[in-house]
Amino acid sequence: MSNCSSETCGTKKASGCGSADAAVAQQNTAIAASLDRIKNKILVMSGKGGVGKSTVSVNLALGLAQKGYKVGLMDVDLHGPDIVRMLGMPGRMDGELTKDGKMPPLQYNDKLKVISLESMMENRDDPVIWRGPLKNQAIRQFIADVNWGDLDYLVIDAPPGTGDEPMTVAHTIKDAKALVVTTPQNIALADVRKSINFCKHVSMKIVGIVENMSGFICPHCDKPVDIFKTGGGEQLATEFSVPFLGRIPLDARVVIAGDDGKPYLSSGATSPAVQAFEEFLAKVEKELPINVAATSIPMAKGASSCGCGSGPCNPNTCDC
Ligand SMILES: Nc1ncnc2c1ncn2[C@@H]1O[C@H](COP(=O)(O)OP(=O)(O)O)[C@@H](O)[C@H]1O
Ligand SMILES: [Mg+2]
Ligand SMILES: [Zn+2]
Repeated sequence: MSNCSSETCGTKKASGCGSADAAVAQQNTAIAASLDRIKNKILVMSGKGGVGKSTVSVNLALGLAQKGYKVGLMDVDLHGPDIVRMLGMPGRMDGELTKDGKMPPLQYNDKLKVISLESMMENRDDPVIWRGPLKNQAIRQFIADVNWGDLDYLVIDAPPGTGDEPMTVAHTIKDAKALVVTTPQNIALADVRKSINFCKHVSMKIVGIVENMSGFICPHCDKPVDIFKTGGGEQLATEFSVPFLGRIPLDARVVIAGDDGKPYLSSGATSPAVQAFEEFLAKVEKELPINVAATSIPMAKGASSCGCGSGPCNPNTCDC
């Protein structure tokens, strides 16, 4: 999507403009510029599939947007993208590029922008058969070539585990913070430990742990039943000294809503699951208030720590 231009490329020296090095450098600059306009980046991850990462991502993004924040939702589960289905957005992305040559994201409403590989595919049921480097490139393009604009939060929905996708996010978005989703059973908790250790390994801060499917809300009396036990997520949070963001119970309405593309947890309905989700949302807001925006790149370094004097750091000319 990005073409190296001889006018603007600052890396043509030895390798020549149009070379792979120049294209990567230009893409790095575009990534840095995109990320610099996004205050908080949240990578929703877990060691297991089916624990509710996509459900949490969709409802978190929508819940924050309903509070008036500017939110982006980026689906990096490239082999199993669910986000656009859960949001009931069947359309394909084929909008005109913006003036600066960027791709407009799907717009769920005026506060929520969405990007997913699925909405770029001819046939949504086709499998994505890609290996690491292609996945890495797709995620980099999701950041560099999409017109995200100014955002308060970018929620990133990851596939299970600690493979190429979360690794690319960790390398590309240095100030992304992980939000770890678990279910209460020991077997899920064991996998989540791997996610936490992954974060330590790549120096990614953890926003906190949320325990999903924590108790089952009986459809007859709306009372909770602890079919998977509860409390494991909180124990894990204590063990690793990270914030515990709350428990969201199992509620059949969440499944129906996810299948129908009408997110339930952020629907404003009154039920124990919605209430639990709202408490979780408030904790995320508290952990990541938008006034303490993190910055992604050396552009924000103090004047004394790079060669750009008192002005903003220019990554094209500065070797900081
Ligand atoms: N709190 C919940 N109550 C009921 N069903 C849930 C809940 N959280 C997730 N689900 C359902 O569980 C299934 C897996 O959730 P999903 O978000 O796709 O998991 P993941 O992204 O981790 O693979 C979906 O059908 C979803 O609707
Ligand atoms: Mg998912
Ligand atoms: Zn009951």
